[in-house]
Amino acid sequence: MASTFTIHVPGRDVSTEVHIGANLLHTLGEHVARLQPARILMVTDEIVMKLLGDRVMDSIRAAGLACDSALVFPPGEGSKSTATLQRVYKELGRIRMDRHGLILALGGGVVSDVAGFAAATWMRGIRYVTCPTTMEAMLDAGVGGKTGVNLPEGKNLVGAFHHPGLVLIDPATLTTLPPRDIRAGLAESIKHGLVFDPAFVEWHERHAARVLDLDAGLLTELIQRNLSIKGKVVTADPCEREGRRALLNFGHTIGHAIESACAYRLRHGECVSLGMVAACRISRELAGLEERAMSRALALLQAFGLPTRFLDAPEPGDMPDVDSILEHLKLDKKSRGAVNTFVLLADLGEPILRRGLPLESIRRATLELLQ
Ligand SMILES: NC(=O)c1ccc[n+]([C@@H]2O[C@H](COP(=O)([O-])OP(=O)(O)OC[C@H]3O[C@@H](n4cnc5c(N)ncnc54)[C@H](O)[C@@H]3O)[C@@H](O)[C@H]2O)c1
Ligand SMILES: [Zn+2]
Repeated sequence: MASTFTIHVPGRDVSTEVHIGANLLHTLGEHVARLQPARILMVTDEIVMKLLGDRVMDSIRAAGLACDSALVFPPGEGSKSTATLQRVYKELGRIRMDRHGLILALGGGVVSDVAGFAAATWMRGIRYVTCPTTMEAMLDAGVGGKTGVNLPEGKNLVGAFHHPGLVLIDPATLTTLPPRDIRAGLAESIKHGLVFDPAFVEWHERHAARVLDLDAGLLTELIQRNLSIKGKVVTADPCEREGRRALLNFGHTIGHAIESACAYRLRHGECVSLGMVAACRISRELAGLEERAMSRALALLQAFGLPTRFLDAPEPGDMPDVDSILEHLKLDKKSRGAVNTFVLLADLGEPILRRGLPLESIRRATLELLQ
């Protein structure tokens, strides 16, 4: 089953066309051809190039297009840098990319963030297409229009909103992704259920085992439901100016602080899982979340093999102390002054935004993760 839908971004003259379906990768060329690009630069990392590069190039050629060049960089967060960006710009210059061309991002969130930012800034903006190949990117990074790179001063400090015109997601490409990365990516799906859709929480409870086995039909449905949730939020608030898009940050405030306090040793999704546990405990204390709802959320994370205590994470290494996590919390990009905004749950599917929570509650919930 393949499915297609469009995410409109009002007032910005862009709409993102999304195609999802197992074994759709070979149709990428046809979809790109409809955009009639004068030039194409493919951007990917070495691992993805080896796994999928030839298939993508063949599909482009079969559609009667030429991939003018492929820029391939080493895998990993270290490549989400201004140095990689420089390489992309150099290549765009070399192939004389103009406003009629496009960048094709093939890979995980690192690739789509760098390639998307290059597209946002080259000649003040050219089109780009994403073909996400990790769970994280299929559910989150590949759509929504956030692009950017890291600086030595911090993660994602330079960036732009720039929406891909086309997103093609083939869940069959996930079979080569390590199970740890599959589970970590799924934390975002559980987040979408907990914050926006109680029926989707139930869906996860029913299908956990088969989703983890990468059942093609269920994965297609899971990705589609996630993107329609994210699509609605993005359409309502394309540049994150109002409250609604901030709800996507459920679990991310403490999650990000843990991620940096342990120097990015854990996966993003593992930290978000821990952050959601802490946010549920704070919600229990301050937002009226019932014990039963909180237990369901924790049980669901565990059913997907996600940590609910720091020591349950794969290869946890040295545990950060609570003060260093709280210190990182103060540096959160989304905090205004030193006050963090938290997404809490009054119930499953009933999020509320709160600023200026008592530090004691945050500290208690964080400490509990470390026990
Ligand atoms: N822009 C956004 O809205 C947004 C949202 C979430 C995350 N992100 C960003 O995304 C990045 C994380 O994304 P990620 O988890 O995809 O990381 P990633 O892009 O580094 O990919 C993880 C690893 O998986 C490999 N890989 C990719 N596809 C594979 C496949 N099909 N089979 C086997 N290996 C494969 C990659 O080579 C890499 O080594 C972070 O930089 C984060 O900030 C951005
Ligand atoms: Zn996230």
